[in-house]
Amino acid sequence: MDRYQSFARSGLGRFVVGKLGLPDPYPLRRHSPGKPPLDGPVLIGGDGRLVDPLHAAAKSAGLTVADGTSSGERYGALVFDASGIDSVERLRELHEFFAPVIRSLGPCGRVVVFGTPPEQAESQVAQRALEGFTRSVGKELKRGGTAQLVYVGPGGEDAIESTARFLLSGRSAYVSGQVVRIGPADVEAPRDWDRPLDGKVALVTGAARGIGAAIAEVLGRDGATVVCLDVPAQGDELSAVANRVGGTALQLDITAPDAPARIAEHLGRRHGGVDVVVHNAGITRDRTLGKMDAGRWDAVVAVNLASQERVNEALLAADALRPNGRIVGVSSIAGIAGNVGQTNYATTKAGVIGMVDSLSRRLAGRATVNAVAPGFIETRMTAAVPLFIREAGRRMNSLSQGGLPVDVAEAIAWFAHPASAGVNGNVVRVCGQSLLGA
Ligand SMILES: NC(=O)c1ccc[n+]([C@@H]2O[C@H](COP(=O)([O-])OP(=O)(O)OC[C@H]3O[C@@H](n4cnc5c(N)ncnc54)[C@H](O)[C@@H]3O)[C@@H](O)[C@H]2O)c1
Repeated sequence: MDRYQSFARSGLGRFVVGKLGLPDPYPLRRHSPGKPPLDGPVLIGGDGRLVDPLHAAAKSAGLTVADGTSSGERYGALVFDASGIDSVERLRELHEFFAPVIRSLGPCGRVVVFGTPPEQAESQVAQRALEGFTRSVGKELKRGGTAQLVYVGPGGEDAIESTARFLLSGRSAYVSGQVVRIGPADVEAPRDWDRPLDGKVALVTGAARGIGAAIAEVLGRDGATVVCLDVPAQGDELSAVANRVGGTALQLDITAPDAPARIAEHLGRRHGGVDVVVHNAGITRDRTLGKMDAGRWDAVVAVNLASQERVNEALLAADALRPNGRIVGVSSIAGIAGNVGQTNYATTKAGVIGMVDSLSRRLAGRATVNAVAPGFIETRMTAAVPLFIREAGRRMNSLSQGGLPVDVAEAIAWFAHPASAGVNGNVVRVCGQSLLGA
């Protein structure tokens, strides 16, 4: 809990926050092993082709499905299958389902609407309309609630479980107002949903600290052998992370000319290949454009974008990415909204989105390529931001707080999941529904 959040939770704080209409950050319910995914039953509505798969996924995930008959029930989630809405008139089914029950959603509750990708739907207009609905619900929810829209393409019905488990749990605590797409895929359920990455090898760049260290920890928790990469100057911190997650440390500057070949060689020789590649290493060198020297521009492009492209190509050329592989980029809301003083950084983070677009098509069927776009995450990077700007960044989202590195890591673990084979070409913001770039 940050200092403002503790104050807002105190007796006096509650009074002041209420009177002045100040942001009211609710403590988010995050995943912890052994704790039920949600704090209450799920109510499932709608009557499209996803109702049965949704019931099956909820059951498999250990969620209780409410029958909607008992009054006064507090729901952990409200899920609506809108995939069959084939006319604008039928959009009123959203209102019919949600309006009577939305106030019965408990703290940190989840709203998830499932639809059909507009371009594949009977009514493109009606399906596209679902976005405005869910994003507004996300802004209306109080007390840590989140809302998302999931478009499931024809043939993707049996590929929804990993996504349903992610969104209907504390793993997605800081994800709200997002649109996710799931395409057709042959999905095999993991033997153990608590260790879906057992037997898999993951590479995480920039793993010595911050978000990268959290990614290594979460992928390790999920069963992966994690190769933790960072610059030699971070050697001690890197070894500490690698030891903690039972992985190995690879000291390397990813911008070095021989880095891609060394990475491909290391993964091939030591591990027989790699299943999950997470391009997390990133730097900022902020200046407004007129004051930005070429050195700052070049350094940011080299670390955040060029090296990632080169590493991908080297891994593909060496055939080191194993079947059902995963490539995950780390973009930023700055790459979507743009940001003063960050022309270089935002260029690279928008480039990461381009990498997702092009590579996800090129590798379709043999690997998935997705990215997270974090908003304000509490790390050393954001601790260095001047106080006033930092406080604004932290509060300017629907959850009125910054996210934690683990929130980004959980989203990456969902992309990395072997059952997420239908989740390809997505850029999902982990930003508490930030107002920037919304
Ligand atoms: N913190 C945020 O709020 C935020 C928001 C949006 C996006 N991001 C992105 O998330 C990623 C991680 O950010 P963070 O806040 O944890 O940053 P951080 O500075 O704490 O960690 C970045 C790590 O990358 C490593 N690294 C830098 N250059 C490298 C190179 N040439 N070779 C190998 N490793 C290198 C660093 O040594 C460091 O350990 C970055 O891509 C960043 O742009 C962060």
